[in-house]
Amino acid sequence: MNIRPMRATDIPQVAALEAAITPTPWSPGLFAEELTLGSHCRILAGKSGEVLGYCVARLLVDEWHLLTLGIAPACRRQGWARRLVQDLLQQATRTESVAILLEVRASNVPARTLYQDMGFTFLYTRKGYYRLASGTEDAILFALPLAKRP
Ligand SMILES: CC(C)(COP(=O)(O)OP(=O)(O)OC[C@H]1O[C@@H](n2cnc3c(N)ncnc32)[C@H](O)[C@@H]1OP(=O)(O)O)[C@@H](O)C(=O)NCCC(=O)NCCS
Repeated sequence: MNIRPMRATDIPQVAALEAAITPTPWSPGLFAEELTLGSHCRILAGKSGEVLGYCVARLLVDEWHLLTLGIAPACRRQGWARRLVQDLLQQATRTESVAILLEVRASNVPARTLYQDMGFTFLYTRKGYYRLASGTEDAILFALPLAKRP
């Protein structure tokens, strides 16, 4: 398996994976828009080229926003999400940026643990941010300050 830039031809598989693993999935069009904008779009590809994970982040002024990240269930707990975030971190330190920001559902313990384990710290709670079939859920905002400031 390897991490490589996302291509337009990957989008159907990326969107299908996201739809299978998150309650608030992006449409294929949203992934396509990020590619067009030149955002940081990476995938985890399997031996046959199949999409097993993805990470999308966008630089807004001097902050990177980690927009979406996911790993196929069969490939979890092998360090791939950590590698995708480290890959973003490398990209971020090459730009004039001060932090990586992200939001996560309050009940998403695997993701919260991943980010806290990687040094992200709690910023604040955005009440009722996510609209789910079962109601709403709070978003927890995390930030990772970047050591190398402009
Ligand atoms: C969250 C997610 C991306 C983690 O992917 P992963 O490849 O399994 O994560 P990693 O193997 O890189 O784990 C890195 C660390 O995260 C934490 N972690 C990951 N999964 C965890 C779990 N189920 N429970 C507790 N901690 C967990 C651990 O600290 C782990 O380190 P360790 O394995 O040495 O203990 C994955 O569970 C997923 O795709 N979930 C659905 C989509 C999602 O929630 N995306 C995040 C949106 S903000």
